[in-house]
Amino acid sequence: MASPRIESGADAGKLVSMLYRSKATVPFRGADLADLATGAAERNRVRKVTGALFHDDGRFLQWIEGPRESVRELFTEICRDSRHTDIDVVSFGSAGHRLFADWNLRLYRQGQTVPELLSGAARTLRYAGGPEAVSAMALELADGDSTGFLAALEAMDGDVAESVALCELLMGRYARLRADDAVNDAGLAIGLALIQGAFRRHSIHVRDYPSTERGKALFVAPVPGEPHILGAVLASTALRNDGFPVHYELPLDCRELGSLIGRQACQGVVLASSGVCARPERLDTIRAAAETVRRAAPGVRLALYGRVEHPDEAALRMTGVNAICRSTIQLSSYFDCSARRIH
Ligand SMILES: Cc1cc2nc3c(=O)[nH]c(=O)nc-3n(C[C@H](O)[C@H](O)[C@H](O)COP(=O)(O)O)c2cc1C
Repeated sequence: MASPRIESGADAGKLVSMLYRSKATVPFRGADLADLATGAAERNRVRKVTGALFHDDGRFLQWIEGPRESVRELFTEICRDSRHTDIDVVSFGSAGHRLFADWNLRLYRQGQTVPELLSGAARTLRYAGGPEAVSAMALELADGDSTGFLAALEAMDGDVAESVALCELLMGRYARLRADDAVNDAGLAIGLALIQGAFRRHSIHVRDYPSTERGKALFVAPVPGEPHILGAVLASTALRNDGFPVHYELPLDCRELGSLIGRQACQGVVLASSGVCARPERLDTIRAAAETVRRAAPGVRLALYGRVEHPDEAALRMTGVNAICRSTIQLSSYFDCSARRIH
């Protein structure tokens, strides 16, 4: 089956950068790391990718920069590597220049400082590297003040990937603020509504796709009963921007979800679940929605999107979804892989 990606044309070569973190699943000693870095640097050279890898006490942080298509392919491979897990994209977006132009993969070990990254030369890192800045922006939004957020979106100049990355950071931050009781439910609702409205107005440069592709669309909807739909908005915008035909719906309940899915052929389903409000009944609603999807479209690829944190990760995986994607870039990579039958 062909990839659903529409010709990405000039964009495929556009310089992008991404930062992700992950946790090692096996011990990495000096020699293991050096081996990994040597092979990786050689492959990165071929792909015109540069960047840096940090390892500290079982945790990885990797900065990757290069042509959009190369970065996406590489990240897909990295996600399939069983030597690490809990891969979490901190930022992804277009880049004006390379931070590590002279290094296909610069290796940093515990205790080493990272001047290039700390200098915060990249725009995304203003947010990725500054949790305080993101918290301050989230609190402003909860207070009804969207000035800072609008200025940030304007600076991103309609760059969808970068705006999505900022919204994802803000949602992650809200989850923390809510858990700490630093915002109440009303503030949370105001903040998320302002993000959603502003995001919709500003992320306008989403590519169109031919109508013949619609039969193969990805179906995107919030898990019915979710208190807000920002995750579904972000997922559908980011997937469209990546060239996937997307059919976006807002079903009121599982019955409506089932009949909407049953009505059209789709090549995959994305259920967006809010990571912001941790609720004990979450597993049940996700499981019920997944069962509905299974009945309506047996065999379809089903991904759960959102910063869905649950103390019982195994139980979350037993809800019947094929993949849990905590960022839109993981979502795109997952459906790229599905389409090419890599998974
Ligand atoms: C934390 C981490 C970072 C990695 N970074 C890179 C990288 O920058 N470039 C690369 O080619 N492989 C990297 N790898 C290795 C890839 O995941 C994968 O093993 C490699 O692309 C070979 O893929 P293959 O075994 O499917 O041929 C990394 C692996 C880990 C665990």
